[in-house]
Amino acid sequence: MSISKRIKKAVIPAAGLGTRFLPATKAMPKEMLPVVDEPAIQYVVAEASKAGLDDILMITGQNKRSMEDHFDRAPVLEATLRDKGDTKKLEAIQYATNLGDLHYVRQGQALGLGHAVLCGKQHVGYEPFAVLLGDDLIDARDELLTTMMETQERLGGSVIAVMEVPEDAVSAYGVIDAGGHDKEPGADVVPVHRLVEKPPVEEAPSTLAIIGRYVLHPEIFAELERTPPGKGGEIQLTDALQAMAAKPPEEGGGVHAVVFRGRRYDTGDKLSYIKAVVTLAAEREDLGPELRPWLKEFAQTL
Ligand code: UTP
Repeated sequence: MSISKRIKKAVIPAAGLGTRFLPATKAMPKEMLPVVDEPAIQYVVAEASKAGLDDILMITGQNKRSMEDHFDRAPVLEATLRDKGDTKKLEAIQYATNLGDLHYVRQGQALGLGHAVLCGKQHVGYEPFAVLLGDDLIDARDELLTTMMETQERLGGSVIAVMEVPEDAVSAYGVIDAGGHDKEPGADVVPVHRLVEKPPVEEAPSTLAIIGRYVLHPEIFAELERTPPGKGGEIQLTDALQAMAAKPPEEGGGVHAVVFRGRRYDTGDKLSYIKAVVTLAAEREDLGPELRPWLKEFAQTL
């Protein structure tokens, strides 16, 4: 099947149950939790948009209303702000509606990230596409997605993003075996021989952990359709990628990893969420000057 090379579409899975964040996520997706004053998902949509991916498909679950509303127009609120002459806030709320062409598909049951991506099959069609996890933030000052898209266009197959993590953290991630290429100085793109989902420390093939950005070959859909439930009883994207890594290039196979060395914020669990909010707020021009001295003072009381 012929395949268009330019990547235009992004899929953002945001249908997980967010159990690590209960009870906050009982009636609200974790992707809507505010990171300073924007919901986490807005950072992710903005990142896709900045990379030129303006056809964005969101995979939503039970509580999708708040997400749809957030990216939709809000005529009454807009009129009120306009009447008050509050242009700053008006622009802030209109920003979210202008980030791209947003579409929504519902994942009826949270059967895993692999299943969530598979829900995008119809919308994506047969072309390479990006996947951005809705609870994983990449600092807007650092570059990742564009590098991954260029890598996929150059090498074909699928491209994932990895990051060096401490050894005792590997069992929280998917981990790759790069066949020793990661040990080469300045290795920015490495071949992926094997991917293991959440391995125990002693079985981890490296300390390169998979983070929430992917550029996938459309053959992944066929692979996901035959992927049985794996770790945690969920259909794992990692397992389908393992099969893609073993396939020949003419069948869309081959997986490479871009090694990311920039700033990433995980908003999916409580502790890393709090760290993300504090870090980003401390760096903001409007909040930082007051927050930073307070933080220093507070730290002394600990
Ligand atoms: P996570 O494993 O971090 O999400 O999935 P989760 O299952 O909601 O988290 P906990 O462990 O219960 O707290 C990574 C991403 O994949 C999405 C999530 O919304 C998140 O963006 N996801 C996960 C789905 O869209 N559907 C699923 O079935 C599972």
